Amino acid sequence: MSNPVRIGIIGLGRVFERYAIVLDGLVREGRAEAVVGYDPLPERCAVAQATYPGMRIAASPAEVYGSDDVDAVLVLTSMNEHGEIAAAAYEAGKHVLVEKPLATTLIEADRLVHLSQESDRLLVCAPHILLSPTYREMHRRLAAGEIGDVKLARALYGWSGPWWGEWFYRPGGGALFDLGVYNVTSLCGFLGSVKRVTALVGTAIKERPVNGVMTPVTANDNAHVLLDFGNEVYGSVTTGFTIQKYGRAPAIELYGLEGSMDMLGDDWAPRGFEVWRSEVGHWEIHEEQAPDWPWTDGLNHLVSCLERGVPSVTRPEQAYHVLEVMLAAMKSSAEGRAVDIASSFPAPDYSHEEDFVMDERRKHDTSL
Ligand SMILES: NC(=O)c1ccc[n+]([C@@H]2O[C@H](COP(=O)([O-])OP(=O)(O)OC[C@H]3O[C@@H](n4cnc5c(N)ncnc54)[C@H](O)[C@@H]3O)[C@@H](O)[C@H]2O)c1
Repeated sequence: MSNPVRIGIIGLGRVFERYAIVLDGLVREGRAEAVVGYDPLPERCAVAQATYPGMRIAASPAEVYGSDDVDAVLVLTSMNEHGEIAAAAYEAGKHVLVEKPLATTLIEADRLVHLSQESDRLLVCAPHILLSPTYREMHRRLAAGEIGDVKLARALYGWSGPWWGEWFYRPGGGALFDLGVYNVTSLCGFLGSVKRVTALVGTAIKERPVNGVMTPVTANDNAHVLLDFGNEVYGSVTTGFTIQKYGRAPAIELYGLEGSMDMLGDDWAPRGFEVWRSEVGHWEIHEEQAPDWPWTDGLNHLVSCLERGVPSVTRPEQAYHVLEVMLAAMKSSAEGRAVDIASSFPAPDYSHEEDFVMDERRKHDTSL
């Protein structure tokens, strides 16, 4: 692996600017280099070149993943393009980071998972929320049995919806793929594979302004999803481009037989967590330890895994599973029945990561 890791980027839209925050740090540390980028929109290429003056602009995605001086490709396009471009980049011999979902069909996602299983190159799939220090600390405490066996869980994420990118509102876009994907990924990381899904998924707002033009909405924007993890362990996800604001509702609520644990904030931007242990009898509040943690941290993780020669914490199989769950939710709603889930995935593997140690001085317990 070359040092610095040489990065090619396909899709230079809004999310590119968020990856650039992480990439800037890696470039400053001499650990990564922005080599080449591609976007069909010249104005987006101009923004990228202003950010990285040394970066070449390619004439096609193939020119990015076909470049000999690229080690890893970031696929940051609109969703329908993810599967095909990520597979082509992987087949071209590159490590790949792909934004969520990894593909919009199970056929494309299956191809990606199989490619990754036949190679030791990395395929890092967003969302990267299992990497946040808060998620990791909650995961560690759950595994240690702090609140006993979890039987019920609830997750919430939504907002009023993008005003850019018409593709968000067409099939292959939608609130489940764009927003629900976070909550489903979080709950699966905590509770394992889903066995069965029941859902209500619909389009509540039929027309929206996108880039100032009223645009018909043909993708879902409103969903309640029930997840059956087996053994009477149930979860729910509430998501939509139909939520103006929520108050202090936790992002994730986990109900164990010996206590409860909530993630505060959103799972892509945690604001600490709180734990109720029945034997203690009051809420223990843990302030956020990493308020600047970026949800584009998967890029740090990709580079760090390449440097250390270790696998990524999350496997592509989890991203496949989450896609299957979301597609099953749409099918359940359309057909008015529960839908079984065929896939499963290995538990997140934090064994190659340094322990994130809670800073006891910043932790304080509060009786509520
Ligand atoms: N914007 C966010 O807040 C956000 C947050 C997390 C994840 N994401 C994810 O990031 C991805 C991009 O979202 P965005 O908000 O940046 O959208 P965007 O519309 O701003 O950017 C997408 C870009 O992809 C380009 N593109 C389309 N087809 C392409 C192709 N074949 N090759 C190369 N480029 C192509 C478009 O021209 C556009 O510039 C989506 O998967 C989205 O779910 C977005």
